[in-house]
Amino acid sequence: MNKILTLLFLVGLLTSCTNEPTLLSVTSPNGTNSIDFGLSEDGTPYYLVHHKNETVIDSSSMGFDFQNQEPLKSGLNLVSSTENTVNETWEMPWGEQREVENHYNEMVVTLEESAAPNRKFNIYFRAYDDGIGFRYEFLPQQGVDSIIIMDENTEFQLTEDYTTWWIPGDWDIYEHRYNTTSVSEIDAISKRNNADLAQTYIPENAVNTPVTMRGKNGVHLSFHEANLTDYAGMTLKVDNETLLLTSELVGSDISGYKVKRELPFKTPWRTIQISDKASELIESKLIVNLNEPNKLGDVSWFEPKKYVGIWWEMHLGKSTWDYAGSQDMNTFTEDAKPTGKHGATTENTKRYIDFAAKNNIKGVLVEGWNTGWEHWIGFEDREGVFDFVTPYPDYDLDELNRYAKEKGVEIIMHHETSAAPRTYEQQLDTAYQLMNQLGMHSVKTGYVGKIIPKGEYHHGQWMVNHYRKVLETAAKYNVAINAHEPIKATGIRRTYPNAIAREGLRGQEFNAWSADGGNPAEHLPIVAFTRMLAGPIDFTPGVFDIELPTKENNRVSTTIAQQLALYVVIYSPVQMACDLPENYENQPAFQFIRDVGVDWDQTEVLNGEVGDYVTIARKERETGNWFVGGITDENAREISIDFDFLDDGVEYEAIIYKDAEDANYENNPTAIAIEEIDISKGSSVAVQLAEGGGFAISLLKIKG
Ligand code: NOJ
Ligand code: CA
Repeated sequence: MNKILTLLFLVGLLTSCTNEPTLLSVTSPNGTNSIDFGLSEDGTPYYLVHHKNETVIDSSSMGFDFQNQEPLKSGLNLVSSTENTVNETWEMPWGEQREVENHYNEMVVTLEESAAPNRKFNIYFRAYDDGIGFRYEFLPQQGVDSIIIMDENTEFQLTEDYTTWWIPGDWDIYEHRYNTTSVSEIDAISKRNNADLAQTYIPENAVNTPVTMRGKNGVHLSFHEANLTDYAGMTLKVDNETLLLTSELVGSDISGYKVKRELPFKTPWRTIQISDKASELIESKLIVNLNEPNKLGDVSWFEPKKYVGIWWEMHLGKSTWDYAGSQDMNTFTEDAKPTGKHGATTENTKRYIDFAAKNNIKGVLVEGWNTGWEHWIGFEDREGVFDFVTPYPDYDLDELNRYAKEKGVEIIMHHETSAAPRTYEQQLDTAYQLMNQLGMHSVKTGYVGKIIPKGEYHHGQWMVNHYRKVLETAAKYNVAINAHEPIKATGIRRTYPNAIAREGLRGQEFNAWSADGGNPAEHLPIVAFTRMLAGPIDFTPGVFDIELPTKENNRVSTTIAQQLALYVVIYSPVQMACDLPENYENQPAFQFIRDVGVDWDQTEVLNGEVGDYVTIARKERETGNWFVGGITDENAREISIDFDFLDDGVEYEAIIYKDAEDANYENNPTAIAIEEIDISKGSSVAVQLAEGGGFAISLLKIKG
């Protein structure tokens, strides 16, 4: 037992001598964060969380409601408590950094009901320097095989009316705009009936996680969960008056319950990332650390890559997914006339392959290659519509695969399921077998629309299990998954490193067609400190034709320099250059996309404030080149960068891509200045960011 723990344990015992309830404690390795656990007079378990000298979570109780048993709430006794310390380092097969330190102190308490049926369960508390986590373990009960959870009642009693960056607790989608309000002003119900969402269900005043908060003295908290396995996703119900958050699990209208599990089992971790600086939230590895080690072993068949694709053209309404040319994004959102032009043709795909091969881009995504798109959205019965192996007649699958390989490019498969997971499950093996035969190692999946069967939701236990089945089956065929309309990221990528990326936020696509005119300029400076804490994001940056001249009411609310910065700021091992190839022709700024890395040895978050700005530097694996990206919200600002993080004695050729003096996202978004300067360790540079602007720097090692 380490010394701090011994001390705290003794303090706990001493407290009990004065007839106060016994408090057990566990403190993080450097003493920054601690958790107290106790049982109230009636035997209700509760905990508190402290950060330095502050209580950030006050007495909060824990409990469960069941369908087939009495609630688990009070009447509990402490049977035992144990402590242990883990200090290890593990390696990410791909990631924001190569090595991850996993250092925590853990306290496990075993509780038992004093009355019959004397149920027993454990709570695991882990204190890390970057936050805390706890989970429940349901132990075997005589004569009981499985339990049915009607709800989990984990409380988080806030101690301040924090400024909060939140999206509503939608059971079906995370693609809402972020809101910035105090906790007392969170109003999720007002976010119902969003015309831009193909499925949405917000049953009450709750938020989805990660939800990030900042206190008056600068403490930052981000609430989330880790290792969401065979359980329902957790939203947090908000009491605007008492500032109490309570877990509210996503349900199912079909089963009528939240979770059914065989005993024994462990729940996902409930997590709080805690830091004084916003930038440290991004550096935190709490979520992956609270997952199991890699179960797949060597996944070198998946190579992190940049990709282009037949994608943006459909979102712009220039071409369609379906063969007949009737279904593009305009036809869904504006009742516009279809273009009559199918995007995924052999000829068009070759054009993208050629473009990729010429520009150091190793992937080409093709959407609309397979039959079924005539019926993918706007129809109740979407079961059996897609089959994932039959190309349209104008798409030569084998020839394109051969052609791509010859050019050193891999085609990225696309499986839109139109939220019919049973159809997809029936075909998983066939679909991945085909990919395996063709040597295709990644697929973008999609779940647009209300889940079939009606009554299941994207974030409920039934779908959590579907998404996992997809990962596990894909792994057998050396296939990696980039899921859209996914379940939230909870660090599963550590265990299943074929979970490469996901959407799970308002992506770039909203800029092309959303009725509210696209993502506001503050969107990504919020995303970096909320959604991105969960894991890699397939945001699809790289729009150069910012004003979208063919779309009257839509545009991208950033400058072109910010689009470049996103390759560094928004982490994903697959990064799209989403614009049409012709929009990159003769654009000197495109050189940054050619050069930028996608797989990192090291990440340094240089500065940032939630919703305002953020600057990140990343060192590429293999080459040792560094890339820096910075973005701002609707406010112009100056950012200074100290290059202390560069390697000693190495010379770099530095190219800065920044907003031109007269640039701004509303009137002059494409004005960019490109400058070559000498930078080495110890240099510092000040960059002016325009309103909605950004900058990107490549530091390419000069080979000796
Ligand atoms: C929604 C996804 O987010 C988008 O990227 C994709 O193009 C469409 N679904 C079609 O699958
Ligand atoms: Ca989407």
